[in-house]
Amino acid sequence: MSTTRRHFLQASALAGLASQTTSAQPRRISPNDHVNVATIGIGIQGSNDTQSSLLADGVKLVAVSDIYEGRLIGAKEKHGADVFTARDYREVLARPDVDAVIIATPDHWHQKIAIDAMAAGKDVYLEKPMVQHLDDGQPLIDAWHKSDRILQVGSQRVSSIVYKKAQDLLRQGAIGELNMVEAWWDRNSAIGAWQYSIPTDASPATVDWDRFLGRAPKRPFDATRAFRWRNYRDYGTGVAGDLFVHLFSGMHFILGATGPDRVYSTGGTYFWKDGRDVPDLMMGLYDYGKTEHHPAFTLSLRVNFEDGANENYGFSFIGSDGVLSIGNGVTVTKRPRPAEPGFTIDSFSKAQQQAYMQQYRAKYPKPNMNADSMRPVSEDKYLPPPGYNDHVDHHRNFIHAVRTRQPVVEDPVFGFRAAGPALLSNVSYFEKRVCRWDAAAMREKA
Ligand SMILES: NC(=O)c1ccc[n+]([C@@H]2O[C@H](COP(=O)([O-])OP(=O)(O)OC[C@H]3O[C@@H](n4cnc5c(N)ncnc54)[C@H](O)[C@@H]3O)[C@@H](O)[C@H]2O)c1
Repeated sequence: MSTTRRHFLQASALAGLASQTTSAQPRRISPNDHVNVATIGIGIQGSNDTQSSLLADGVKLVAVSDIYEGRLIGAKEKHGADVFTARDYREVLARPDVDAVIIATPDHWHQKIAIDAMAAGKDVYLEKPMVQHLDDGQPLIDAWHKSDRILQVGSQRVSSIVYKKAQDLLRQGAIGELNMVEAWWDRNSAIGAWQYSIPTDASPATVDWDRFLGRAPKRPFDATRAFRWRNYRDYGTGVAGDLFVHLFSGMHFILGATGPDRVYSTGGTYFWKDGRDVPDLMMGLYDYGKTEHHPAFTLSLRVNFEDGANENYGFSFIGSDGVLSIGNGVTVTKRPRPAEPGFTIDSFSKAQQQAYMQQYRAKYPKPNMNADSMRPVSEDKYLPPPGYNDHVDHHRNFIHAVRTRQPVVEDPVFGFRAAGPALLSNVSYFEKRVCRWDAAAMREKA
């Protein structure tokens, strides 16, 4: 067959696929049926997602799409030769046996594949950050509203019993009135800084480079960009889209917060000078106004890829009566304020010192310095059961929603409320300006 004729046939077949994907009717899933899942983008996280999804009851992997041949071969090796594989995700969406898709491609493909998947009648588990650019968010939410599809965004902390415990404790008043949240995610390794392995057979023959690029600017094949895409703004979203978004999701879930009013971020590329065009250290400051769910508070976020320590991740919720921290589990530390305020009178005249102390001691009698005058400092720790995995819970929540058509814990509105301020942190960093965010409308304010 001539090359021209082969190309013509391929083009006609895909045109057919595209029209099928917009008219397809979802399969009816009865409670005892398997939910048939397909993974689009089966790299590091797509593999984890597939694994976690299969741990939810009654899930079957039926198809996989990836633009790198080695990962399609790897998927068949791991999940069986009968799993359908394709470089073009539209072939997966055109299959009537696929009920739901996991989308774990680089960020620049998230919006397009999610919209195409819903149009094809598929439910969607979409990795974080929900979208690559601020402008991508609302069209995806609109497409979801217009469809009858389930869409779960993949920030698994929202399903975590650890975060639920923190939510319960804060609601019960564990730290008094909140005034500040600090969260950080520091790393000290090449893999942590996104220097992912590049396969030795990476070439235009094994990687569908045009399909990797998608809407990104055209350029010649570059294996580093294909496999270490996070380092480039054309495909990824920097540390803000990778890690701040997890911190926003967790914090929004715990507090019932919907987003900040003001966003400022700074940082630099200090250590990983490997050609990346995104910072390896970023700090963000955010003002959250008072709502019915929380008082006004300030948030600070930090990611440092060369912090001199190992992976170090956590939250501190700081309040008038104590601090709630999240690391491996939840810790509440209460340090009551001293009963008397103290004084700074040494530089006053002797007469004034005497007069002041007389008045002061009338109000605050001198305490007895005995064992009873010790102030209690309490520390309560809550650890999850050994082996607890919130990622599996997040997939279970999705599969439950696919079966029952009940809402998921992290729909695209929640997803964009976390992704929006994370992406605005990039705008603040690259444009060196303080940004204002309309959390209700989910867009930047002029
Ligand atoms: N929830 C989490 O904790 C978590 C953790 C890591 C990554 N992620 C998210 O998962 C996504 C993937 O990240 P990763 O670290 O697995 O990257 P990765 O590079 O390991 O995997 C991406 C895969 O997508 C494939 N791909 C690229 N374009 C494609 C296309 N058009 N169609 C089909 N496949 C395509 C690539 O070949 C690759 O196999 C990102 O959006 C990332 O933010 C989430």
